[in-house]
Amino acid sequence: MNLTTQYMGIELKNPVIIGANHLSARLSNLEKMEQNGAAGIVFKSLFEEQLHFENLMLGTAIEEYSEIHPEITSPAFDLDFSGPKEYIYQLKKARKALKNIPLFASLNAVYDESWVDYALKIEKTGVQGIELNFYTVPRPDDFYGMNPEDRQSSILHNLKQALKIPVAVKLSPYSNNMVGLVRKMDSLGANAFVLFNRFFQPDIDIEKETLHFPYNLSQEGDYKLSMRFAGMLYKNIDAQICASGGVFNGYDIAKLVMAGADATQITSVLYKNGLGSITQIINELTQWMESKGYSNLDAFKGKLSHHTTKDDFVYSRAQYLDLLLNSKEMNKYLPQPVNK
Ligand SMILES: Cc1cc2nc3c(=O)[nH]c(=O)nc-3n(C[C@H](O)[C@H](O)[C@H](O)COP(=O)(O)O)c2cc1C
Repeated sequence: MNLTTQYMGIELKNPVIIGANHLSARLSNLEKMEQNGAAGIVFKSLFEEQLHFENLMLGTAIEEYSEIHPEITSPAFDLDFSGPKEYIYQLKKARKALKNIPLFASLNAVYDESWVDYALKIEKTGVQGIELNFYTVPRPDDFYGMNPEDRQSSILHNLKQALKIPVAVKLSPYSNNMVGLVRKMDSLGANAFVLFNRFFQPDIDIEKETLHFPYNLSQEGDYKLSMRFAGMLYKNIDAQICASGGVFNGYDIAKLVMAGADATQITSVLYKNGLGSITQIINELTQWMESKGYSNLDAFKGKLSHHTTKDDFVYSRAQYLDLLLNSKEMNKYLPQPVNK
């Protein structure tokens, strides 16, 4: 059985990549992920915002200390913003820990200059590629400035000029024109798209009447959002399509590949079912392929994409109105009664 595929133009032994998350910060987890069959790992993101915040906290702590001890006139160490040194250090260790699979970094910077500056530092660690974790909450003054998606495109353009290693764009699912945005970034040279990121969502405890922040893990079945866009983008762009969000088993991957995905990323399933789920997912995909007589992924990739089926009803409609008005069309997709 040949499960090989590509992500960012790099050959992978199978379509199961570990999505960026905090489990990757521990070397023993990285090793286990590789042993269990992961084809590649995305290291947790470097968030520039967090670096600034940590620096601010450190500055405040030192100021307080100086006040308690008035004889200390200058702090013992340089308070200049130390940048992403710690992340780079961890990334180098992670790269060494993996034997035969690619490691990808992930970056979420704030300023245009830091996107390039940090990415160049990351490139030197020997990682095989960088995922751009594009998400910003626009500030009020951004409404009068550059559209955030145009800004992301400009950052991508700058990075493609500066870097030698490939670049993937990990997008938020909230765009008014997702296919247009992806096609534009594709023309700027993005090597892959990760569809989609999933965000931290606050909740409210109605007994205590307080806000809280539960781990926002995906649920089984959530893969459908990504599947739809994989289906629309297949053969529409040059870059590889990596489906992410709600991938829990090998059958989800079979569906995503059939829609047009080249690879997939998994995260929530690892938190819910442990690192052993990697092997199980690969086994399920292999068994399903065997049962269908498929010897490689290309044998069914895109089989049910928009490009192949030309099914506008499925891929172009998002509202339920059609389903209600067009019941004849809808009947094609409903289970048919069994004739006795
Ligand atoms: C605990 C946790 C930490 C995450 N950290 C990152 C991160 O550092 N960078 C990033 O781009 N995505 C991060 N993600 C998002 C995942 O990489 C992934 O895109 C998302 O969870 C959807 O995949 P899933 O449904 O398999 O969980 C994180 C997700 C979780 C649950």
